[in-house]
Amino acid sequence: MGLHGIRGQWCFLSGAADGLGNAIARELAARGMNLVLFDVQEAKVAALAHELQSLGVQSLPVAVDLADAAATATAVDHAVGKVGAPRALIHDAAVLTPRPFREWSFEGWRRELDIILQGAFVLAKGVWEPMIAQGHGSIVFISSGSALRGFPLESAYTPAKHGQEGLMKVLSIEGAEFNIAVNTATTGAPIDTPMSWGHYTPEMREGMISPRRLAPAFAYFAALDAGQATGLRFDAFQVSEAITLQSQVARA
Ligand SMILES: NC(=O)c1ccc[n+]([C@@H]2O[C@H](COP(=O)([O-])OP(=O)(O)OC[C@H]3O[C@@H](n4cnc5c(N)ncnc54)[C@H](O)[C@@H]3O)[C@@H](O)[C@H]2O)c1
Repeated sequence: MGLHGIRGQWCFLSGAADGLGNAIARELAARGMNLVLFDVQEAKVAALAHELQSLGVQSLPVAVDLADAAATATAVDHAVGKVGAPRALIHDAAVLTPRPFREWSFEGWRRELDIILQGAFVLAKGVWEPMIAQGHGSIVFISSGSALRGFPLESAYTPAKHGQEGLMKVLSIEGAEFNIAVNTATTGAPIDTPMSWGHYTPEMREGMISPRRLAPAFAYFAALDAGQATGLRFDAFQVSEAITLQSQVARA
């Protein structure tokens, strides 16, 4: 399936209210994709869904706390019941609480893992059988430099992002026979989002880019079949730059 193939198809997207997720939602809608928008920020995600509908696509806001596995599973089942199997699942939602290890409680640590890693499991589990039944699908977890390296003050975020990479590797192997592509996508650069505002040093903020610059890559990811690319860790910045360049060349 090429980039144009996503028009009229559905994407389930977590973390759509703010930051990168919001930019991805706008990009996919501009390319004609319908969206189910999962986020804990109910008012923001409802307003976004309303705005996207004015672009002529269908969108369904789903207010859910991804740390709650049962509520998340119910929300995905409900979405599948309403719109059918999605072409793509993009799990973007995350929180990053910088905190010394000695100050973490088990409950706080667990909540951050549940949003990032348990969320990846429950969302993927909810679309897995529907994607098998339709014969295709693409699943993407948003990665981070913290999925490969350790950073101070990140004893929840870093293991959760490492865990997503591991889940991706297993699902990509198991998904191949069903034509389900499973990949991760790192941002490739610090991005100018609410998460970064609360966390990044002044030096890191200097290199920040708009999440809008990364969004084109997600149209490519949403269109992937397992035969094209699976089990990979993409750099969304590089993929977006290539897509933008390609469309400039095509227009010239
Ligand atoms: N900001 C960066 O520079 C950077 C760098 C590398 C990777 N990332 C990754 O990119 C993705 C997007 O990050 P961002 O910077 O846009 O973050 P953000 O904080 O701006 O947005 C995160 C979104 O997730 C939602 N969310 C948080 N907790 C939730 C919960 N319990 N249930 C449902 N939704 C919840 C928020 O409401 C928000 O809409 C994340 O996976 C993050 O780890 C970000």
